[in-house]
Parts: sequence; C-alpha cells; structure tokens
Amino acid sequence: MYLCLCRAISDRDVAALARAGACTVAQVFKAKGTKPNCGSCIHHIRDALDEARAGCPAEMAAAAD
Ligand code: FES
Repeated sequence: MYLCLCRAISDRDVAALARAGACTVAQVFKAKGTKPNCGSCIHHIRDALDEARAGCPAEMAAAAD
C-alpha cells in the first residue's frame, strides 16, 4: 500500500528502510532520493516508522518526534 502517493513510497519501502536504519521521515525521503511534496503522508510514514523503530537509538527516536 502506498503511504506517499506523490513519491510512490509504500509501507514496504518504509519497513525496509526502517530495518536498514531509517528512524525519521526525513531519512525515508532522503533514502528514496526525494523530498515531500504535499506533505499529507508525513503522519502515515511516521506511524509506520513508529512501529519499526524500537531499535533506534533513543536520541534519534526523540529527534524524529
Ligand atoms: S503524499 Fe507524500 S508528499 Fe504528497
């Protein structure tokens, strides 16, 4: 399922990037080589990261909020 329609970023993309170490929405967009357009997906991507980022360093998780 696409979380970001503007940039075609899926829930699978976010899960894979989280496993690879992405802890913030900005890191997801950077890893995909793009930037947000409309921004309506930000909370969806953040929610997906929240589910996966338990292994992130606390300071990175806090910085993402
Ligand atoms: S839906 Fe992600 S930037 Fe528009």
